[in-house]
Amino acid sequence: MEQIRVGVIGLGAIGERLIQGFNANKYTTVQAVVDTDKERASKMAEKLGGINWYNHHMKMLAEEELDLVYVAVPPKYHHAVTMDVIEKGVHVLCEKPLANSVEEAKEMFEKAEQAGIIHAMNFPLNYSSPANTFDQMIKEGYIGQLRKLELSMNFPNWPRLWQQNDWVAGREQGGFVLEVGVHFIQLTQRIFGSITHINSRLELPKDTTKCETGVIASLALANRTPFLINGMSQIAGTERIAYTAYGTEGSLSLIDWGTLKGGKLGEEIHSIENEKEDTSTLIDNLVAAIAGKESHLYTFKDGYEAQIILEKLRDK
Ligand SMILES: NC(=O)c1ccc[n+]([C@@H]2O[C@H](COP(=O)([O-])OP(=O)(O)OC[C@H]3O[C@@H](n4cnc5c(N)ncnc54)[C@H](O)[C@@H]3O)[C@@H](O)[C@H]2O)c1
Repeated sequence: MEQIRVGVIGLGAIGERLIQGFNANKYTTVQAVVDTDKERASKMAEKLGGINWYNHHMKMLAEEELDLVYVAVPPKYHHAVTMDVIEKGVHVLCEKPLANSVEEAKEMFEKAEQAGIIHAMNFPLNYSSPANTFDQMIKEGYIGQLRKLELSMNFPNWPRLWQQNDWVAGREQGGFVLEVGVHFIQLTQRIFGSITHINSRLELPKDTTKCETGVIASLALANRTPFLINGMSQIAGTERIAYTAYGTEGSLSLIDWGTLKGGKLGEEIHSIENEKEDTSTLIDNLVAAIAGKESHLYTFKDGYEAQIILEKLRDK
């Protein structure tokens, strides 16, 4: 199989993380990188063996022959940058959230479909075996009939210490509802189907440039099963993210992304061994899709559907 030539736009914490993934896959080669920060771009290019680097994505798109472009710039630039990649007709992987508004997300999905390219989103929970075990146990009836879903997010620090940048704590394109909530909204849509928004309230600081410090939201699944979201930042304690499904026969939680806990009615809640093999990675699935083989990708359609709920939760 021929090497898949990858261009990466945006070399922050996350861009760098996926570059490691592309390096680890024997079918993908990072051929060029872009960052508006020239020093960051040149250093990364050097680290990758002296590959080409650019400080504008249009220059890379004009000069490089690429099979796939990965967009890892901050959310408010996803639309502009990704639309240029779509225009060029190159397969595209975009970071979540897909865009910074429903209109942008819709246009990105529609244009990517029209272009006939592969379009994918980086929603890592879909490739995590605990999340997939959660899905499987729900489908096998571990909790019986679902009565309520709950997402609780507690952040002592927002932004988290590993993600200090100039946008993630801003109201325009940051906040934990957008950054973290999106993963569980998409996972809910995947496992349980469509969601409707009933009402929500954000706790917002007086400084209108700063993101929410709290959210309480009431959503519902298609059959009216309630889905509650409850989040707070700048609080005592440790970070904890718990996604719980309560059913007629028991409950099941995915805690801190990778731990499964649950119990049947009458039992204590206990840890549940995750017996699934590690699932294939996002990059394995991109490689398969580009080779025309069967693959499991979450596309701009999934990003767009999640964005509809996200924008209802955000008080823009
Ligand atoms: N999938 C996940 O699990 C996950 C987790 C965290 C963040 N993210 C997403 O990843 C994206 C990047 O997040 P991050 O934490 O790495 O951000 P970051 O701010 O650390 O890095 C972004 C980089 O993009 C560069 N940049 C900004 N505008 C650009 C442009 N127009 N062209 C080229 N480069 C540009 C910046 O100079 C910076 O180096 C965001 O969309 C974020 O929501 C995804």
